[in-house]
Amino acid sequence: MKFQSGHQATALEGEEWERQKSHWLGYTEGLVRFSPGGWVFPTTFTKFADKYYNFKFRPTDVLVHTWAKSGTTWTQEIVWTMRNNPDLNNPMADMNVNARAPFLEFDMFHVHGKKTNDNFLENFQRLCPGKDPANGMFLQMSEGLRDPRTIKSHLPLSLLPPSLLDTTKVVAVLRNPKDVIVSYHHHCRLLNVHGYVGSLDDFVQYFVDDDLVYSPYWLHVKEVWEKREHPNLHIMFFEDMKADIMKELRKLDGFLGTGLSDEQLDNVARHTGFSAMKGRAGDRAPDHVNKEVMTKDGGFFRKGQSGDWKNKLSPEMEEKVNKYIEEKIKNIGVPFKFG
Ligand code: PPS
Repeated sequence: MKFQSGHQATALEGEEWERQKSHWLGYTEGLVRFSPGGWVFPTTFTKFADKYYNFKFRPTDVLVHTWAKSGTTWTQEIVWTMRNNPDLNNPMADMNVNARAPFLEFDMFHVHGKKTNDNFLENFQRLCPGKDPANGMFLQMSEGLRDPRTIKSHLPLSLLPPSLLDTTKVVAVLRNPKDVIVSYHHHCRLLNVHGYVGSLDDFVQYFVDDDLVYSPYWLHVKEVWEKREHPNLHIMFFEDMKADIMKELRKLDGFLGTGLSDEQLDNVARHTGFSAMKGRAGDRAPDHVNKEVMTKDGGFFRKGQSGDWKNKLSPEMEEKVNKYIEEKIKNIGVPFKFG
C-alpha cells in the first residue's frame, strides 16, 4: 500500500507478529511498518495516513509536537492556557485537555470502537454534531475546532504536511530517552488501547529495536532537531521545564506572541503544575485503564519527574539503552539531560 507521503506500509506478520501479539492485547487490528523510516503504527493508521499528511493547518494553529511521554499533555495545557485562559476564568478549561487540544492521530488506536475516555464521545458529539465517529473522532474534532486551535501530535514531521512549519507554529518537546522508556512502559500497561502485558526488559528491547508504536524514537528526534533553526519551531526540553518553568514560559510567551504579564505567567505555571493537573484529573480509574496497574503504580500523572529511570532500569537495561544512544542518538547532537 502506497501513501501520498511516499511511504509504503507493510503489515507485521509471521513469527514477529505472533510474539508481539502476546504482549500487546490492545493492538487487535495488528501493526504496520511505514517505510522509509520504519515507523510503527496500529493498522488503522493506514485508513487515516493521507488525511494527516494533507491536514489543513492554519497560521493561527499551534501544534504541540512530541514523541510519546515527552511532556505533551503538560505542554498542551500550557499552550492552551496561555492562549485561552491566562486569567484562569475560561469555563472551557473544565473539558478534558484532549478535547480542547485534540490528539490528531488518536483515531489510529481505533478509539471509536473501544472504550477510551468516558467523555470523548460526548465531547465529539458536542463539537461535531451529526458527524460519524467512524470517520475519525479526533481528526474531525481537530478539523472542527474553533480558532485559535491547539493540536497535539506524536507523528514524525515526515508524515505531517511538508508545509507545516511554513504555515504553523510548532512547539516540540524532547525528553531524555531513559525517562521516556520508563514513562511509556507505564502508559502502555495502564491504557487498554495498548494493553501491554510484557516485562520492562522486553519493553526496553522493543525500544532499542525500534519496534514500539511511534518508533524509531531517534529518527523522530533527528527530524525535529534538523529543523531547529526554523523560526516557526520552538523546542523545549522536559528537564528544563522541570528545572525552571517560569524561564521556559517566558521564552514560550515570546515565541507564541501571547504577551502575558508576570501575573498571568504565574497563573499558567500554577494551573499547569503537576499536582494541579493530577488533582483535576482525579484519582478515579476510568473504564479505559487497567485498574490494577493504576492502583499499584499510579495513573496517567505518574511521577512527573526527571531521572526516575535510575529507580527502574537495571544495569543490563541501562547498558542496552546506552548502546542505542551511542549508535543512533549521539551524532544527532541533541543536548539531552538525564536527570
Ligand atoms: S502522552 O500520553 O504520550 O501524550 O504522554 P505525555 O503527556 O507526553 O507524557 C506524560 C508524562 O509527563 C508527565 N506530566 C507532567 N510532568 C510534570 N508536570 C506536569 N504538569 C505534567 N503532566 C504530565 C506525566 O506524569 C508522565 O511522566 P511520568 O514520568 O510517567 O510521570
